[in-house]
Amino acid sequence: MAEKVTVPHIVKQKLQGEKITCLTAYDYSFARILDAAGVDILLVGDSVGCVFQGQPNTLPVTLDDMVYHTRAVVRGRKRALVVSDMPFLSYQVRQEDAISNAGKLVQQGGAEAVKLEGGVAMQSTIEAIVRVGVPVMGHVGLTPQSIHRFGGYKVQGKEKTQREVILRDASAVQDGGAFAVVLEGIPMDLAGEITERLTIPTIGIGAGSRCDGQVLVINDMLGLFDDFTPKFVKRYADLKEVTTQAVKSFISDVRGGKFPGEEHAFK
Ligand code: KIV
Repeated sequence: MAEKVTVPHIVKQKLQGEKITCLTAYDYSFARILDAAGVDILLVGDSVGCVFQGQPNTLPVTLDDMVYHTRAVVRGRKRALVVSDMPFLSYQVRQEDAISNAGKLVQQGGAEAVKLEGGVAMQSTIEAIVRVGVPVMGHVGLTPQSIHRFGGYKVQGKEKTQREVILRDASAVQDGGAFAVVLEGIPMDLAGEITERLTIPTIGIGAGSRCDGQVLVINDMLGLFDDFTPKFVKRYADLKEVTTQAVKSFISDVRGGKFPGEEHAFK
């Protein structure tokens, strides 16, 4: 088996100019497949709220949900680094809560790092969590937990002042001690500038090719979730169609008496 991916390994990938790959995972079966295929980071994203729970956004996801899904992913993982999202209100209110909630994702879920959204406003929280030994991945730009403030899933950093805010946010995440930062929904030249300025790796989603790595939501890239498909998603398979055809075949086989056959029955 290839060497286990660790936080220092991810940081080294940037120094060595080796692109970092990250996909979301929410369950044991997918975690096993993605891990065996060689992805570097399995992100137990709070996107679980949308693609797994059918919620309209990530805000209803709870810490218990994240612990549950993180446990399942960790059981299926051999090599990849498992990073678990801190859900809405699990870190923004009090720093003591942020520390103990990050600790729960590690202690009860088995995560090796946590991810939280926000820049300058979260710098001291990142510091506090890192101080107890939990590695933190930041997340700036279009941060989905702030969707109501943005008025929807809109690209951030198009205007000069917004751009400067995001640059400051990314630096604050690094200064707080994060080992990497997700750049979501920002223009590619801004993502490129941040990637050049920071020493920690940037992992982009809807941020263009100049980031140190890329992340996608697994259900989006496999065509399993099509409630809406953002422009930045590349669909690598159409598992909705494959699944639909398989289920139709099953229905037709059962109705036509073709399943189960002799080979599926016990003598
Ligand atoms: O929750 C999630 O899946 C994420 C990624 C989109 C970066 O935060």
